[in-house]
Amino acid sequence: MLVARGLTRRFGMITAVDAVDLDLAPGDAVGLIGPNGAGKSTLLSLLAGDAPPDAGSFVLDGRSIAHLPLHARVRAGIARAAQIPQTFARLTLRENALLPAQHGARLPARAAQLWADEVLALCGLADKAGSMAGALGLLDRKRLELAKAVAARPRVLLLDEVAAGLTEPEIATIKALVDKLRDGRAVVWVEHIPFALRGTCARLVVMDKGAKLLDGPFDEVWSHPDLQRIYMGVADGRAA
Ligand SMILES: Nc1ncnc2c1ncn2[C@@H]1O[C@H](COP(=O)(O)OP(=O)(O)OP(=O)(O)O)[C@@H](O)[C@H]1O
Ligand SMILES: [Mg+2]
Repeated sequence: MLVARGLTRRFGMITAVDAVDLDLAPGDAVGLIGPNGAGKSTLLSLLAGDAPPDAGSFVLDGRSIAHLPLHARVRAGIARAAQIPQTFARLTLRENALLPAQHGARLPARAAQLWADEVLALCGLADKAGSMAGALGLLDRKRLELAKAVAARPRVLLLDEVAAGLTEPEIATIKALVDKLRDGRAVVWVEHIPFALRGTCARLVVMDKGAKLLDGPFDEVWSHPDLQRIYMGVADGRAA
């Protein structure tokens, strides 16, 4: 479904993403891990369309989309929940979810409203649907960021640290949501918390210094000696 080849992004002297290849099939749930600064968020930005790649190609359902801008990417079927939530503070939660339901999923008005409300409920925000997004605390802002991405009904759903700062029961809710959403689409989930990815992501990709180092079945990658090596020197001395 998605084939990325040689994706590269530089910031001055730093190669944040260095010739990364990635293949995704419908139903794939891929955990993406790596130390701080490994290039995970930048890779998601390249896929989501925030920034054009300096090199590389990227095809979704047979269509080259590497140079499509953000809004066209969402319509093409790629949506991301960003590490720093990008919600519209002066809109209600319902309005925030309605925009991607209409313009991303391209649902007609009534269906979009129903879907927006359903997604807010799935993300545990039903009781706040009429509140202003600007009034939310961090956890609910993260949930809303997730809801907005899901509301677009993407073919590829990119999640950047949506579980950071959540409690285990809250993370379990998100895992159940991701499981529910996986049918017919692919999920790439960046997270430092192993509990969030284990069981939900059958596949694990490891990045370090911009490059993709490992890509395979979760348990195989998790126990790979190279994983221990790249995390050496990390404060708590273990992976993620
Ligand atoms: N807009 C930018 N301008 C300059 N450098 C950047 C920019 N965005 C990212 N970088 C650099 O690119 C590298 C990769 O950063 P990125 O945010 O993708 O890492 P990450 O794996 O998401 O890290 P974290 O786990 O801390 O979120 C880092 O060296 C970072 O400082
Ligand atoms: Mg990041």
